Amino acid sequence: MRSLRFATAAVAAVALSVPLVAGTATAGPSAGRQAAPHSEARFDRLRSAAPEGFYVGTAVAGGGHHLEQDYPDPFTSDKEYRKILGRQFSSVSPENQMKWEFLHPERDRYDFKAADAIVAFAERHGQVVRGHTLLWHSQNPAWLEQGDFSKEELRAILREHITTVVGRYAGRIQQWDVANEIFDDRGTLRTQDNIWIRELGPGIVADAFRWVHEADPKAKLFFNDYGVESVNAKSNAYYALTQDLLAQGVPVHGFSVQAHLSTRYGFPGDLEQNLRRFDALGLETAVTELDVRMDLPESGVPTDAQQKQQADYYRRALSACLAVEGCNSFTIWGFTDKYSWVPVFFQGEGSATVMTEEFDRKPAFYALRSTLKAARED
Ligand code: XIL
Repeated sequence: MRSLRFATAAVAAVALSVPLVAGTATAGPSAGRQAAPHSEARFDRLRSAAPEGFYVGTAVAGGGHHLEQDYPDPFTSDKEYRKILGRQFSSVSPENQMKWEFLHPERDRYDFKAADAIVAFAERHGQVVRGHTLLWHSQNPAWLEQGDFSKEELRAILREHITTVVGRYAGRIQQWDVANEIFDDRGTLRTQDNIWIRELGPGIVADAFRWVHEADPKAKLFFNDYGVESVNAKSNAYYALTQDLLAQGVPVHGFSVQAHLSTRYGFPGDLEQNLRRFDALGLETAVTELDVRMDLPESGVPTDAQQKQQADYYRRALSACLAVEGCNSFTIWGFTDKYSWVPVFFQGEGSATVMTEEFDRKPAFYALRSTLKAARED
């Protein structure tokens, strides 16, 4: 069994032993509640198949690209979606609902409705929450990006946002993506497109971590990025920066890889090795936004071979995380193609999640479940 390396893991493991409100597909609510610990019904769920202290998460669909689609807000309106969200996962990440443009639409106005609802849902379902995100170059409100603020004002704006948002959810967020995507692919700090780094200099990153830690001393504070699955220029930049910050006593606790993968580029075979070197620094690691997109045939339906390849990518990403002691959080970026961001952002690619638009399970779903089970029984 996996050791419970972190206090937060122990707390949530207790929450997970609380009977769920919802039943299972094969048994009614009361039968589900009385199910023996090793019954089929219980292990039908990803979250129950997982080793103790290991969190299996998903993004919670809403905001962002969803606002331009012809369906209502998935999280609040789609019953089937909510049922699966509550049953299958032990961790949830607001896909857009905690980003600046969503939470802080005007300088003097916050909108916490959607974020509050997600945190409350998570608590009702014995789930932990990954907060996403506080310092980023993207999805910032126009009043901020186009405002004419002095350096002092900007610093005060960031500090106030962090104190307000992190303070509101203090004790209820397991991990925060404090800084998101601060390096470009060459491993150079985004000194142009990241407003905070451009205007306030690189030191603002350390300050952000300090302010988050002050507002919620229990939350684990992460750097998060895409294209850092392998040992490469970008992940090397994080490796150097985290060492530097740790040496200065800055409260950095984790490094996470988004893992937006595509079968075009092959699987990052050194993922485990990369996670291990951050683990060796004493950091937690996590996979935070896994999806595996592919070029779709004209029919729009992936071939069996494509499905198999995708399942293999999901399995390998999960196995890499499971193999690393401090990698206790594994999140997929949505569980159904119905709401995936992929077709909207990557032309010609799709079918990136573990369930079809009708919520039918793909081979990738079963690959995750059997891999979790095997790790649990280890
Ligand atoms: C994406 C969301 O899925 C979309 O709904 C939104 O329109 C754009 O952002 N890296 C991140 C995530 O850190 O926040 C991004 O989410 C995907 C890439």
